[in-house]
Amino acid sequence: MPTPRQPVAATRFDLVVAANRLPVDAVDDGFGGTLWRRSPGGLVTALEPVMRDRDAAWVGWAGVPGQAPEPFYQNRLWLRPVSLSAEEIEQYYEGFSNETLWPIYHDVIVQASFHRRWWNTYRTVNRRFAMAIVEAAAPGATVWVHDYQLQLVPALVRTVRPDVRIGWFDHIPFPPVELFAQLPWRRELVEGLLGADFLGFQRAADAENFLRACRRLLALTTRGDTVSFTPPGIDPSARRTVRAGAIPISVDFKGLDTLARTPQVIARAAEIRSCLGNPKILVLGVDRLDYTKGFRSRLRAYEELLREKVISAPHVTLMLVALPSREHIDAYRQLREEVEATIGRINGQYSAVGSAAVYYLHQSYPRAEMAAMFLAADVMLVTPLRDGMNLVAKEYVSCRHDLNGALVLSEFAGAWHELHEAFTCNPHDIEGLKQAIMGAINSPRDERARRMKALRKRVADHDVQRWANCYLESLASAPSKPRSSASNRRQRREIQRARSVRLQALDHASEQVSY
Ligand code: F6P
Repeated sequence: MPTPRQPVAATRFDLVVAANRLPVDAVDDGFGGTLWRRSPGGLVTALEPVMRDRDAAWVGWAGVPGQAPEPFYQNRLWLRPVSLSAEEIEQYYEGFSNETLWPIYHDVIVQASFHRRWWNTYRTVNRRFAMAIVEAAAPGATVWVHDYQLQLVPALVRTVRPDVRIGWFDHIPFPPVELFAQLPWRRELVEGLLGADFLGFQRAADAENFLRACRRLLALTTRGDTVSFTPPGIDPSARRTVRAGAIPISVDFKGLDTLARTPQVIARAAEIRSCLGNPKILVLGVDRLDYTKGFRSRLRAYEELLREKVISAPHVTLMLVALPSREHIDAYRQLREEVEATIGRINGQYSAVGSAAVYYLHQSYPRAEMAAMFLAADVMLVTPLRDGMNLVAKEYVSCRHDLNGALVLSEFAGAWHELHEAFTCNPHDIEGLKQAIMGAINSPRDERARRMKALRKRVADHDVQRWANCYLESLASAPSKPRSSASNRRQRREIQRARSVRLQALDHASEQVSY
Protein backbone atom coordinates (compact mmCIF):
# COMPACT_ATOMS: atom_id res chain seq x y z
CA MET A 1 0.00 0.00 0.00
CA PRO A 2 1.46 3.36 -0.88
CA THR A 3 1.74 5.69 2.08
CA PRO A 4 0.48 9.23 1.77
CA ARG A 5 3.05 11.91 1.24
CA GLN A 6 4.55 13.34 4.36
CA PRO A 7 6.07 16.76 4.71
CA VAL A 8 9.76 16.85 3.94
CA ALA A 9 11.43 17.08 7.35
CA ALA A 10 15.02 17.32 6.18
CA THR A 11 16.51 18.00 2.81
CA ARG A 12 20.09 16.96 3.58
CA PHE A 13 20.92 13.34 4.22
CA ASP A 14 23.83 11.27 5.58
CA LEU A 15 23.35 8.59 2.95
CA VAL A 16 22.31 9.36 -0.61
CA VAL A 17 21.71 6.48 -3.01
CA ALA A 18 21.42 7.24 -6.72
CA ALA A 19 20.23 4.74 -9.30
CA ASN A 20 18.67 5.14 -12.72
CA ARG A 21 15.29 4.17 -11.30
CA LEU A 22 13.61 5.05 -8.03
CA PRO A 23 12.64 2.03 -5.90
CA VAL A 24 8.95 2.74 -6.59
CA ASP A 25 6.75 2.55 -9.66
CA ALA A 26 4.11 5.11 -10.51
CA VAL A 27 0.64 3.54 -10.61
CA ASP A 28 -2.61 5.18 -11.67
CA ASP A 29 -4.82 5.65 -8.58
CA GLY A 30 -7.98 5.42 -10.70
CA PHE A 31 -8.87 9.08 -10.04
CA GLY A 32 -6.39 10.68 -12.42
CA GLY A 33 -3.64 10.82 -9.78
CA THR A 34 -0.53 8.78 -9.10
CA LEU A 35 0.22 6.27 -6.39
CA TRP A 36 3.71 4.97 -5.69
CA ARG A 37 4.15 1.24 -5.28
CA ARG A 38 7.41 -0.30 -4.13
CA SER A 39 9.08 -1.96 -7.11
CA PRO A 40 9.90 -5.63 -6.66
CA GLY A 41 13.60 -5.21 -7.56
CA GLY A 42 16.44 -6.62 -5.48
CA LEU A 43 18.23 -3.32 -4.97
CA VAL A 44 15.52 -1.80 -2.83
CA THR A 45 15.36 -4.96 -0.70
CA ALA A 46 19.11 -4.74 -0.28
CA LEU A 47 19.27 -1.12 0.63
CA GLU A 48 16.10 -0.64 2.64
CA PRO A 49 17.51 -2.05 5.90
CA VAL A 50 20.69 0.03 5.70
CA MET A 51 18.82 3.12 4.60
CA ARG A 52 16.12 2.86 7.27
CA ASP A 53 18.72 2.97 10.02
CA ARG A 54 20.15 6.17 8.66
CA ASP A 55 18.99 9.50 7.47
CA ALA A 56 18.78 8.48 3.83
CA ALA A 57 17.60 9.66 0.42
CA TRP A 58 17.22 7.94 -2.94
CA VAL A 59 17.68 9.86 -6.18
CA GLY A 60 16.31 8.31 -9.38
CA TRP A 61 14.04 8.50 -12.39
CA ALA A 62 10.35 7.87 -11.74
CA GLY A 63 10.02 5.72 -14.89
CA VAL A 64 7.74 8.06 -16.87
CA PRO A 65 8.57 10.95 -19.21
CA GLY A 66 8.11 14.58 -18.25
CA GLN A 67 8.39 16.79 -15.24
CA ALA A 68 9.25 14.77 -12.14
CA PRO A 69 7.03 15.01 -9.08
CA GLU A 70 8.25 16.84 -5.98
CA PRO A 71 10.40 14.80 -3.57
CA PHE A 72 8.36 12.75 -1.13
CA TYR A 73 8.68 10.34 1.75
CA GLN A 74 7.67 6.73 1.41
CA ASN A 75 8.36 4.01 3.96
CA ARG A 76 10.75 6.36 5.77
CA LEU A 77 12.80 6.89 2.62
CA TRP A 78 13.12 10.32 1.08
CA LEU A 79 12.65 9.88 -2.67
CA ARG A 80 13.97 12.53 -5.01
CA PRO A 81 12.61 11.98 -8.55
CA VAL A 82 14.76 13.14 -11.48
CA SER A 83 12.97 14.39 -14.62
CA LEU A 84 13.64 12.82 -18.00
CA SER A 85 11.95 14.11 -21.14
CA ALA A 86 10.76 11.65 -23.80
CA GLU A 87 13.78 12.59 -25.90
CA GLU A 88 16.15 12.00 -23.00
CA ILE A 89 14.63 8.60 -22.34
CA GLU A 90 15.27 7.77 -25.98
CA GLN A 91 18.85 9.06 -26.03
CA TYR A 92 20.20 8.57 -22.49
CA TYR A 93 18.30 5.43 -21.38
CA GLU A 94 17.40 3.50 -24.52
CA GLY A 95 20.22 4.93 -26.62
CA PHE A 96 23.50 5.44 -24.81
CA SER A 97 22.82 3.22 -21.78
CA ASN A 98 21.16 0.32 -23.54
CA GLU A 99 22.32 0.43 -27.16
CA THR A 100 25.87 1.69 -26.61
CA LEU A 101 27.06 0.64 -23.14
CA TRP A 102 24.93 -2.47 -22.60
CA PRO A 103 26.22 -4.35 -25.69
CA ILE A 104 29.84 -3.30 -25.08
CA TYR A 105 29.63 -4.42 -21.45
CA HIS A 106 28.03 -7.74 -22.49
CA ASP A 107 30.62 -9.08 -24.94
CA VAL A 108 29.04 -7.32 -27.97
CA ILE A 109 26.44 -10.08 -28.32
CA VAL A 110 24.73 -7.50 -30.51
CA GLN A 111 26.55 -4.64 -32.22
CA ALA A 112 26.83 -1.42 -30.22
CA SER A 113 25.68 1.88 -31.75
CA PHE A 114 27.67 5.06 -31.26
CA HIS A 115 25.95 8.43 -31.58
CA ARG A 116 27.38 11.72 -30.39
CA ARG A 117 23.95 13.13 -29.58
CA TRP A 118 23.24 10.12 -27.29
CA TRP A 119 26.53 10.76 -25.53
CA ASN A 120 25.68 14.46 -25.07
CA THR A 121 22.33 13.54 -23.56
CA TYR A 122 23.98 10.95 -21.30
CA ARG A 123 26.25 13.72 -20.02
CA THR A 124 23.34 16.11 -19.51
CA VAL A 125 21.34 13.54 -17.57
CA ASN A 126 24.35 12.49 -15.48
CA ARG A 127 24.85 16.16 -14.57
CA ARG A 128 21.23 16.41 -13.51
CA PHE A 129 21.59 13.37 -11.26
CA ALA A 130 24.81 14.86 -9.85
CA MET A 131 23.06 18.15 -9.04
CA ALA A 132 20.24 16.32 -7.27
CA ILE A 133 22.80 14.38 -5.19
CA VAL A 134 24.81 17.48 -4.38
CA GLU A 135 21.66 19.17 -3.08
CA ALA A 136 20.59 16.16 -1.03
CA ALA A 137 23.93 15.24 0.60
CA ALA A 138 24.67 16.54 4.09
CA PRO A 139 28.25 17.64 4.84
CA GLY A 140 30.49 14.56 4.93
CA ALA A 141 27.67 12.32 3.64
CA THR A 142 28.08 8.95 1.95
CA VAL A 143 26.95 8.90 -1.69
CA TRP A 144 26.34 5.51 -3.30
CA VAL A 145 25.87 5.59 -7.08
CA HIS A 146 24.61 2.55 -8.97
CA ASP A 147 25.28 1.11 -12.35
CA TYR A 148 26.32 1.89 -15.90
CA GLN A 149 23.70 4.57 -16.51
CA LEU A 150 25.47 6.92 -14.07
CA GLN A 151 29.18 6.50 -14.69
CA LEU A 152 29.95 10.23 -14.92
CA VAL A 153 28.21 11.03 -11.66
CA PRO A 154 31.08 10.24 -9.21
CA ALA A 155 33.45 12.83 -10.73
CA LEU A 156 30.66 15.39 -11.20
CA VAL A 157 29.69 15.15 -7.55
CA ARG A 158 33.29 15.24 -6.34
CA THR A 159 33.99 18.42 -8.28
CA VAL A 160 31.39 20.28 -6.27
CA ARG A 161 31.40 18.32 -3.02
CA PRO A 162 34.89 17.10 -2.12
CA ASP A 163 33.63 16.58 1.45
CA VAL A 164 31.50 13.50 0.63
CA ARG A 165 32.50 9.83 0.35
CA ILE A 166 31.52 8.48 -3.05
CA GLY A 167 31.00 4.86 -4.02
CA TRP A 168 29.84 3.33 -7.29
CA PHE A 169 28.64 -0.22 -7.83
CA ASP A 170 28.58 -1.92 -11.21
CA HIS A 171 25.63 -4.31 -11.45
CA ILE A 172 26.67 -5.56 -14.87
CA PRO A 173 30.01 -6.93 -16.14
CA PHE A 174 32.87 -4.53 -16.77
CA PRO A 175 34.22 -5.42 -20.23
CA PRO A 176 37.75 -6.43 -21.21
CA VAL A 177 39.76 -3.43 -22.35
CA GLU A 178 39.70 -4.63 -25.98
CA LEU A 179 35.92 -4.11 -26.05
CA PHE A 180 35.82 -1.07 -23.76
CA ALA A 181 38.36 0.61 -26.06
CA GLN A 182 35.72 0.74 -28.83
CA LEU A 183 33.88 3.47 -26.94
CA PRO A 184 34.77 6.87 -28.36
CA TRP A 185 34.16 8.31 -24.84
CA ARG A 186 36.19 5.71 -22.94
CA ARG A 187 38.46 8.29 -21.28
CA GLU A 188 35.56 10.38 -20.01
CA LEU A 189 33.83 7.29 -18.63
CA VAL A 190 36.92 6.14 -16.74
CA GLU A 191 37.54 9.65 -15.43
CA GLY A 192 33.90 9.85 -14.37
CA LEU A 193 34.26 6.68 -12.31
CA LEU A 194 37.55 7.80 -10.82
CA GLY A 195 35.67 10.51 -8.97
CA ALA A 196 34.63 7.74 -6.57
CA ASP A 197 36.55 6.55 -3.51
CA PHE A 198 35.56 2.94 -4.00
CA LEU A 199 34.33 1.11 -7.11
CA GLY A 200 32.51 -2.16 -6.48
CA PHE A 201 32.17 -4.92 -9.09
CA GLN A 202 30.44 -8.29 -9.24
CA ARG A 203 33.58 -10.34 -9.96
CA ALA A 204 37.30 -9.91 -9.40
CA ALA A 205 37.68 -10.13 -13.20
CA ASP A 206 35.46 -7.05 -13.64
CA ALA A 207 37.59 -5.02 -11.21
CA GLU A 208 40.72 -6.21 -13.03
CA ASN A 209 39.22 -5.20 -16.38
CA PHE A 210 38.60 -1.72 -15.00
CA LEU A 211 42.13 -1.40 -13.63
CA ARG A 212 43.53 -2.62 -16.95
CA ALA A 213 41.49 0.05 -18.77
CA CYS A 214 43.03 2.65 -16.44
CA ARG A 215 46.52 1.44 -17.30
CA ARG A 216 46.08 0.86 -21.01
CA LEU A 217 43.83 3.75 -21.99
CA LEU A 218 44.79 6.46 -19.50
CA ALA A 219 48.37 5.36 -18.71
CA LEU A 220 47.56 5.44 -14.99
CA THR A 221 49.54 3.59 -12.35
CA THR A 222 47.78 0.75 -10.56
CA ARG A 223 49.00 -1.00 -7.46
CA GLY A 224 47.16 -4.12 -6.31
CA ASP A 225 43.49 -3.14 -6.31
CA THR A 226 44.09 0.61 -6.39
CA VAL A 227 44.71 3.21 -9.06
CA SER A 228 46.30 6.62 -8.57
CA PHE A 229 44.83 9.50 -10.43
CA THR A 230 44.97 13.27 -10.68
CA PRO A 231 41.67 14.72 -11.92
CA PRO A 232 42.16 16.81 -15.08
CA GLY A 233 42.69 20.50 -14.45
CA ILE A 234 43.33 20.00 -10.75
CA ASP A 235 46.48 20.74 -8.84
CA PRO A 236 48.81 17.71 -9.28
CA SER A 237 49.22 17.45 -5.54
CA ALA A 238 45.49 16.63 -5.32
CA ARG A 239 46.35 13.14 -6.52
CA ARG A 240 43.84 10.57 -5.33
CA THR A 241 43.81 6.84 -4.88
CA VAL A 242 40.72 4.89 -5.92
CA ARG A 243 40.07 1.28 -4.90
CA ALA A 244 38.34 -1.25 -7.17
CA GLY A 245 37.15 -4.52 -5.64
CA ALA A 246 34.68 -7.37 -6.06
CA ILE A 247 31.63 -7.42 -3.79
CA PRO A 248 29.08 -9.73 -5.45
CA ILE A 249 25.46 -8.71 -4.90
CA SER A 250 22.96 -11.17 -3.46
CA VAL A 251 19.30 -11.63 -2.53
CA ASP A 252 17.18 -11.42 0.60
CA PHE A 253 17.65 -15.08 1.53
CA LYS A 254 15.64 -14.95 4.76
CA GLY A 255 12.77 -13.06 3.18
CA LEU A 256 12.50 -15.46 0.25
CA ASP A 257 12.95 -18.55 2.41
CA THR A 258 10.17 -17.37 4.73
CA LEU A 259 7.91 -16.50 1.80
CA ALA A 260 8.46 -19.89 0.14
CA ARG A 261 7.54 -21.67 3.40
CA THR A 262 4.14 -19.98 3.69
CA PRO A 263 1.16 -22.33 3.20
CA GLN A 264 -0.14 -20.02 0.43
CA VAL A 265 3.04 -20.29 -1.62
CA ILE A 266 3.35 -24.05 -1.04
CA ALA A 267 -0.29 -24.53 -2.11
CA ARG A 268 0.17 -22.28 -5.13
CA ALA A 269 3.25 -24.27 -6.20
CA ALA A 270 1.18 -27.48 -6.14
CA GLU A 271 -1.58 -25.71 -8.05
CA ILE A 272 0.84 -24.56 -10.76
CA ARG A 273 2.04 -28.15 -11.24
CA SER A 274 -1.50 -29.39 -11.37
CA CYS A 275 -2.52 -26.71 -13.92
CA LEU A 276 0.36 -27.91 -16.09
CA GLY A 277 -0.95 -31.50 -15.92
CA ASN A 278 1.41 -32.61 -13.12
CA PRO A 279 4.46 -33.18 -15.30
CA LYS A 280 7.05 -35.58 -13.99
CA ILE A 281 9.68 -32.92 -14.51
CA LEU A 282 8.91 -29.21 -14.67
CA VAL A 283 11.73 -27.17 -16.18
CA LEU A 284 11.60 -23.40 -15.57
CA GLY A 285 13.28 -20.32 -17.03
CA VAL A 286 12.69 -16.80 -15.65
CA ASP A 287 14.50 -13.88 -17.25
CA ARG A 288 14.02 -10.39 -18.58
CA LEU A 289 13.52 -10.84 -22.30
CA ASP A 290 17.08 -9.76 -23.08
CA TYR A 291 19.52 -11.12 -25.66
CA THR A 292 22.15 -11.58 -22.96
CA LYS A 293 20.04 -14.21 -21.20
CA GLY A 294 20.59 -17.04 -23.66
CA PHE A 295 16.99 -17.65 -24.77
CA ARG A 296 18.06 -18.78 -28.21
CA SER A 297 20.53 -21.44 -27.11
CA ARG A 298 18.23 -22.66 -24.35
CA LEU A 299 15.36 -23.17 -26.80
CA ARG A 300 17.66 -24.74 -29.33
CA ALA A 301 18.94 -27.28 -26.81
CA TYR A 302 15.40 -28.00 -25.63
CA GLU A 303 14.07 -28.46 -29.16
CA GLU A 304 16.90 -30.89 -30.00
CA LEU A 305 16.21 -32.94 -26.87
CA LEU A 306 12.56 -33.21 -27.96
CA ARG A 307 13.52 -34.03 -31.55
CA GLU A 308 15.92 -36.73 -30.44
CA LYS A 309 13.19 -38.10 -28.13
CA VAL A 310 15.50 -37.83 -25.13
CA ILE A 311 12.60 -36.03 -23.44
CA SER A 312 8.95 -35.73 -24.36
CA ALA A 313 5.94 -33.71 -23.31
CA PRO A 314 3.95 -33.95 -21.09
CA HIS A 315 6.39 -35.90 -18.87
CA VAL A 316 8.85 -33.08 -19.22
CA THR A 317 7.39 -29.59 -19.55
CA LEU A 318 9.16 -26.28 -19.98
CA MET A 319 7.68 -23.10 -18.49
CA LEU A 320 9.38 -20.03 -19.89
CA VAL A 321 8.73 -16.74 -18.13
CA ALA A 322 10.04 -13.81 -20.19
CA LEU A 323 9.69 -10.55 -18.32
CA PRO A 324 8.93 -7.66 -20.72
CA SER A 325 11.97 -5.39 -21.08
CA ARG A 326 13.20 -2.40 -23.13
CA GLU A 327 10.55 -2.99 -25.75
CA HIS A 328 11.34 0.12 -27.82
CA ILE A 329 14.79 -1.18 -28.73
CA ASP A 330 15.10 -3.10 -32.02
CA ALA A 331 17.32 -5.90 -30.73
CA TYR A 332 14.75 -6.62 -28.00
CA ARG A 333 11.85 -6.58 -30.45
CA GLN A 334 13.68 -8.94 -32.77
CA LEU A 335 14.50 -11.27 -29.92
CA ARG A 336 10.87 -11.37 -28.86
CA GLU A 337 9.73 -12.21 -32.38
CA GLU A 338 12.31 -14.95 -32.68
CA VAL A 339 11.59 -16.46 -29.25
CA GLU A 340 7.86 -16.46 -29.89
CA ALA A 341 8.27 -17.98 -33.37
CA THR A 342 10.55 -20.71 -32.00
CA ILE A 343 8.15 -21.56 -29.18
CA GLY A 344 5.31 -21.66 -31.71
CA ARG A 345 7.29 -24.10 -33.85
CA ILE A 346 8.24 -26.31 -30.88
CA ASN A 347 4.68 -26.40 -29.61
CA GLY A 348 3.29 -27.06 -33.08
CA GLN A 349 5.49 -30.11 -33.35
CA TYR A 350 5.81 -31.53 -29.84
CA SER A 351 2.66 -30.55 -27.89
CA ALA A 352 -0.44 -32.69 -27.56
CA VAL A 353 -4.03 -31.63 -26.95
CA GLY A 354 -4.14 -30.38 -23.34
CA SER A 355 -0.38 -30.47 -22.80
CA ALA A 356 2.01 -27.96 -24.30
CA ALA A 357 5.71 -28.71 -24.64
CA VAL A 358 6.48 -25.11 -23.71
CA TYR A 359 4.35 -22.75 -21.62
CA TYR A 360 5.33 -19.20 -22.48
CA LEU A 361 4.47 -16.25 -20.24
CA HIS A 362 5.42 -12.73 -21.31
CA GLN A 363 4.41 -10.91 -18.13
CA SER A 364 5.75 -9.75 -14.78
CA TYR A 365 4.60 -11.43 -11.57
CA PRO A 366 4.46 -10.52 -7.89
CA ARG A 367 7.12 -11.92 -5.58
CA ALA A 368 4.84 -14.59 -4.06
CA GLU A 369 3.91 -15.97 -7.49
CA MET A 370 7.57 -16.10 -8.47
CA ALA A 371 8.38 -17.95 -5.25
CA ALA A 372 5.62 -20.48 -6.05
CA MET A 373 7.03 -21.00 -9.56
CA PHE A 374 10.50 -21.58 -8.11
CA LEU A 375 9.12 -24.05 -5.62
CA ALA A 376 7.18 -25.87 -8.33
CA ALA A 377 10.13 -26.30 -10.71
CA ASP A 378 12.31 -29.43 -10.64
CA VAL A 379 14.94 -27.89 -12.88
CA MET A 380 15.80 -24.21 -13.15
CA LEU A 381 17.57 -23.02 -16.30
CA VAL A 382 19.80 -19.97 -15.89
CA THR A 383 21.77 -19.90 -19.11
CA PRO A 384 22.94 -16.35 -19.92
CA LEU A 385 25.66 -15.69 -22.49
CA ARG A 386 26.92 -12.96 -20.17
CA ASP A 387 25.43 -11.68 -16.93
CA GLY A 388 26.83 -9.45 -14.17
CA MET A 389 25.36 -11.65 -11.45
CA ASN A 390 21.91 -13.19 -12.16
CA LEU A 391 19.81 -12.92 -9.06
CA VAL A 392 17.23 -15.43 -10.35
CA ALA A 393 19.73 -18.24 -9.66
CA LYS A 394 20.08 -17.07 -6.06
CA GLU A 395 16.32 -16.55 -5.67
CA TYR A 396 15.61 -20.09 -6.86
CA VAL A 397 18.06 -21.51 -4.34
CA SER A 398 16.61 -19.35 -1.54
CA CYS A 399 13.11 -20.71 -2.19
CA ARG A 400 14.11 -24.42 -2.21
CA HIS A 401 13.79 -25.12 1.52
CA ASP A 402 12.68 -28.65 0.52
CA LEU A 403 16.25 -29.21 -0.83
CA ASN A 404 14.70 -30.46 -4.03
CA GLY A 405 15.27 -28.78 -7.37
CA ALA A 406 18.34 -28.63 -9.58
CA LEU A 407 19.97 -25.47 -10.88
CA VAL A 408 21.53 -25.44 -14.36
CA LEU A 409 23.85 -22.43 -14.40
CA SER A 410 25.90 -20.80 -17.13
CA GLU A 411 29.55 -20.25 -16.41
CA PHE A 412 29.09 -16.77 -17.92
CA ALA A 413 26.85 -15.60 -15.06
CA GLY A 414 28.54 -13.81 -12.16
CA ALA A 415 26.58 -16.15 -9.85
CA TRP A 416 28.51 -19.15 -11.22
CA HIS A 417 31.62 -17.94 -9.39
CA GLU A 418 29.81 -18.53 -6.11
CA LEU A 419 27.33 -21.31 -6.86
CA HIS A 420 29.76 -24.12 -7.59
CA GLU A 421 27.34 -26.95 -6.84
CA ALA A 422 25.03 -26.05 -9.73
CA PHE A 423 24.94 -28.10 -12.96
CA THR A 424 27.36 -26.02 -14.99
CA CYS A 425 26.86 -25.26 -18.67
CA ASN A 426 28.42 -23.28 -21.47
CA PRO A 427 25.37 -21.94 -23.36
CA HIS A 428 27.40 -21.61 -26.58
CA ASP A 429 27.96 -25.38 -26.54
CA ILE A 430 24.55 -26.84 -27.39
CA GLU A 431 25.64 -30.46 -26.82
CA GLY A 432 27.11 -29.49 -23.45
CA LEU A 433 23.95 -27.58 -22.56
CA LYS A 434 21.80 -30.60 -23.41
CA GLN A 435 23.99 -32.78 -21.20
CA ALA A 436 23.75 -30.31 -18.31
CA ILE A 437 19.94 -30.22 -18.64
CA MET A 438 19.76 -34.02 -18.71
CA GLY A 439 22.21 -34.26 -15.81
CA ALA A 440 19.87 -32.06 -13.77
CA ILE A 441 16.72 -33.92 -14.90
CA ASN A 442 18.18 -37.34 -14.10
CA SER A 443 20.01 -36.44 -10.92
CA PRO A 444 19.07 -38.68 -7.99
CA ARG A 445 17.12 -37.11 -5.13
CA ASP A 446 20.02 -37.34 -2.67
CA GLU A 447 22.44 -35.71 -5.10
CA ARG A 448 20.02 -32.82 -5.66
CA ALA A 449 19.62 -32.41 -1.90
CA ARG A 450 23.38 -32.40 -1.34
CA ARG A 451 23.93 -29.79 -4.03
CA MET A 452 20.98 -27.65 -2.95
CA LYS A 453 22.07 -27.67 0.68
CA ALA A 454 25.51 -26.34 -0.26
CA LEU A 455 24.01 -23.71 -2.60
CA ARG A 456 21.60 -22.53 0.07
CA LYS A 457 24.36 -22.25 2.63
CA ARG A 458 26.36 -20.06 0.29
CA VAL A 459 23.44 -17.69 -0.39
CA ALA A 460 22.33 -17.63 3.26
CA ASP A 461 25.86 -16.73 4.40
CA HIS A 462 26.27 -14.11 1.68
CA ASP A 463 22.88 -12.48 1.52
CA VAL A 464 21.99 -9.03 0.31
CA GLN A 465 22.16 -7.38 3.73
CA ARG A 466 25.70 -8.64 4.10
CA TRP A 467 26.46 -7.32 0.61
CA ALA A 468 25.21 -3.82 1.43
CA ASN A 469 27.08 -3.74 4.75
CA CYS A 470 30.32 -5.02 3.16
CA TYR A 471 30.02 -2.43 0.44
CA LEU A 472 29.50 0.46 2.83
CA GLU A 473 32.38 -0.76 5.05
CA SER A 474 34.69 -0.95 2.02
CA LEU A 475 33.62 2.51 0.99
CA ALA A 476 34.18 3.91 4.47
CA SER A 477 37.66 2.41 4.66
CA ALA A 478 38.76 3.16 1.08
CA PRO A 479 42.07 5.00 1.19
CA SER A 480 41.08 7.85 -1.00
CA LYS A 481 40.28 10.91 1.07
CA PRO A 482 41.73 13.70 -1.05
CA ARG A 483 44.93 14.85 0.50
CA SER A 484 44.90 18.48 1.48
CA SER A 485 46.54 19.80 -1.62
CA ALA A 486 47.36 23.42 -0.94
CA SER A 487 50.51 23.96 0.94
CA ASN A 488 50.07 27.70 0.95
CA ARG A 489 47.27 30.23 0.70
CA ARG A 490 47.72 30.98 -3.00
CA GLN A 491 47.30 27.33 -3.97
CA ARG A 492 44.18 27.05 -1.82
CA ARG A 493 42.67 30.14 -3.44
CA GLU A 494 43.34 28.75 -6.91
CA ILE A 495 41.69 25.46 -6.14
CA GLN A 496 38.70 27.28 -4.67
CA ARG A 497 38.40 29.40 -7.81
CA ALA A 498 38.63 26.35 -10.08
CA ARG A 499 35.91 24.67 -8.06
CA SER A 500 33.52 27.59 -8.32
CA VAL A 501 34.10 27.74 -12.09
CA ARG A 502 33.19 24.06 -12.35
CA LEU A 503 30.18 24.58 -10.12
CA GLN A 504 28.97 27.37 -12.39
CA ALA A 505 29.50 25.11 -15.40
CA LEU A 506 27.41 22.41 -13.74
CA ASP A 507 24.69 24.93 -12.90
CA HIS A 508 24.72 26.23 -16.43
CA ALA A 509 24.48 22.73 -17.88
CA SER A 510 21.49 21.87 -15.77
CA GLU A 511 19.77 25.14 -16.66
CA GLN A 512 19.91 24.17 -20.31
CA VAL A 513 17.43 21.42 -19.63
CA SER A 514 13.97 22.30 -20.84
CA TYR A 515 12.32 21.90 -17.42
O1 F6P B 1 21.12 -5.07 -13.90
C1 F6P B 1 21.17 -4.14 -14.90
C2 F6P B 1 19.90 -3.35 -15.02
O2 F6P B 1 19.96 -2.40 -16.02
C3 F6P B 1 19.56 -2.61 -13.75
O3 F6P B 1 20.13 -1.34 -13.69
C4 F6P B 1 18.07 -2.62 -13.80
O4 F6P B 1 17.53 -2.65 -12.53
C5 F6P B 1 17.72 -3.88 -14.57
O5 F6P B 1 18.83 -4.20 -15.33
C6 F6P B 1 16.47 -3.71 -15.42
O6 F6P B 1 16.73 -2.83 -16.47
P1 F6P B 1 15.84 -1.57 -16.87
O7 F6P B 1 15.90 -0.59 -15.76
O8 F6P B 1 16.46 -1.09 -18.13
O9 F6P B 1 14.44 -2.09 -17.05
